[in-house]
Amino acid sequence: MYEDWTEELPIGETAEVSPGVIVERRCFLTTIALALGALAIPATATEKLATDERISYEDFLKEVIPVAKKLVADTSLAGQHRYLLTLASYAVRIADVSVPQMRDSGQGAGPGTFIGSNPGGDPFIVIHWRMEPGSIIRPHAHTYGNVLTLGLEGEIRVENFEMIGVRDFDAKGTFKARKTQSQILTPGQVNLVNLERDYIHGFQASMRGGRGLDFTTRIKERRPTTPYLNLSGKQVETGVFEASWAT
Ligand SMILES: [Fe+2]
Repeated sequence: MYEDWTEELPIGETAEVSPGVIVERRCFLTTIALALGALAIPATATEKLATDERISYEDFLKEVIPVAKKLVADTSLAGQHRYLLTLASYAVRIADVSVPQMRDSGQGAGPGTFIGSNPGGDPFIVIHWRMEPGSIIRPHAHTYGNVLTLGLEGEIRVENFEMIGVRDFDAKGTFKARKTQSQILTPGQVNLVNLERDYIHGFQASMRGGRGLDFTTRIKERRPTTPYLNLSGKQVETGVFEASWAT
């Protein structure tokens, strides 16, 4: 959603990520293990990863911020993936987070979409969002901040797109856009917006509605407006649509 507030390897297999520290393998463990090894995270942090215990939001921030600060500098495609997946490995363990006061998102295709904020820190901000049953957040591009979206409640379909060819947020007229992801975001599920991939996302709430968090990290020069993706509905080939930008 907003860029700026002012705007699972077979389960059960294990791997040793540092001497004496054994963790259970999950989908993106290799990336995480490499990241942790490279960062020489204190043993207490890695030991905690070996458990399924939930952590408070405050402990989440305390643990993840030092790691995020070390990974955020690499803004390459691979660097952003490493950053977002590492952030995700901590975020999925959050036990609970308070629901802040919310206002209309301003990004809905109609009423029923709301945003507020929870404390974040350097280098990311945290947007807390809620969607009423059947509501829609229009697909929009993230141009300067990558995003980790975490589902907390309900069921939301999230779709990602990207431009085919050279990325141009000032493109006039029509261009081709590819749908790169389409998934159901349920509690504990994550979706990534890497500024090099999947950088356009939109949300459609199920009849149950839903709620979640967006961890947004600004890594590029801010743009004054958010480009919204207009899809003509004309599918020129499987998963490829004629599209244009709107504000
Ligand atoms: Fe967004």
